[in-house]
Amino acid sequence: MESSMKPLSSDFGLYLKSFKLFLERSTEYQCMEKFIDENLPEVVTSIGKKGASCLNVLGVGSGSGEVDMKILSKIQSKHPGLPIHNEVVEPNPHQITKYKDLVKEITQGLNISFTWNQMRSEEYEKQNKERKECRKFDFIHMIQMLYFVQSVPDTIKYFHSLLETNGKLLIIQVAGDSGLHSLWNKVGSRFPTNSGFLGDQKVLDEMRVKYQKYELPSDMDITECFIEGNENGERLLNFLTDVADFRKTAPPDLKAEVLHNLRHPPCSREENGKILFNNNMHFIVVDN
Ligand SMILES: C[S@@+](CC[C@H](N)C(=O)[O-])C[C@H]1O[C@@H](n2cnc3c(N)ncnc32)[C@H](O)[C@@H]1O
Repeated sequence: MESSMKPLSSDFGLYLKSFKLFLERSTEYQCMEKFIDENLPEVVTSIGKKGASCLNVLGVGSGSGEVDMKILSKIQSKHPGLPIHNEVVEPNPHQITKYKDLVKEITQGLNISFTWNQMRSEEYEKQNKERKECRKFDFIHMIQMLYFVQSVPDTIKYFHSLLETNGKLLIIQVAGDSGLHSLWNKVGSRFPTNSGFLGDQKVLDEMRVKYQKYELPSDMDITECFIEGNENGERLLNFLTDVADFRKTAPPDLKAEVLHNLRHPPCSREENGKILFNNNMHFIVVDN
């Protein structure tokens, strides 16, 4: 790892600006919506302990809650009449404020209460263990957040242990055939961030738990990355490498290798003059 490069994700304000642009340039949310509309209903039909008077849901790394609210409304539609208690674990205060604003906008007609935990998943685990609390949940999700935890295996194991009878854990990450996997497998050891975040499936196999995997296509327009000096292109490049100011701080040979990989298969394809990065996603549903 070259010492002048700093992880983008160590400055979360800066990271979120890149993330917002990534959402604008990618079909990430459309891909998630497709899963929520077409696959999630069947997944959540069986959750809930027999005779329970309420469903308990936990979102870990929820961000500003757009995806969470779609999930919650899908769960409620599958269990009409059953109130939902939704607990949120999200360290960024600005994201929590946005999530609360969204809740005010759209909870009309839904029977959902909220508990907000402004903290990292590691702190949530520590706090629960100190208080000897072990609240169980019917549905837990970790969406595009395992990239930031201290230990992917510990995080998956802990949250899996919080599943109620019939509970399910949903993990959403980029798929094994995504451009991110390909890029990080090739040059990730030279980036300042540890690439252990890509190993969610390996952890589940080692845990010998039962899970189903769904894979859905998604892409991201990275054409601007190849226009030198283009501000959006720089932001996207920083996002994909998790390096703050990648073009200025990466050594020339690494820069050339990354740009070459980003431009060609298997990372990307060219379509109508655009460079489309493979952002395929996997949705892993883990049983209790
Ligand atoms: C890429 S965003 C994804 C947000 C949301 N789940 C979505 O898909 O739109 C990652 C989120 O994880 C949160 N995060 C980062 N480290 C975390 C940790 N250790 N525990 C819980 N959340 C974390 C960030 O604040 C951020 O909101």
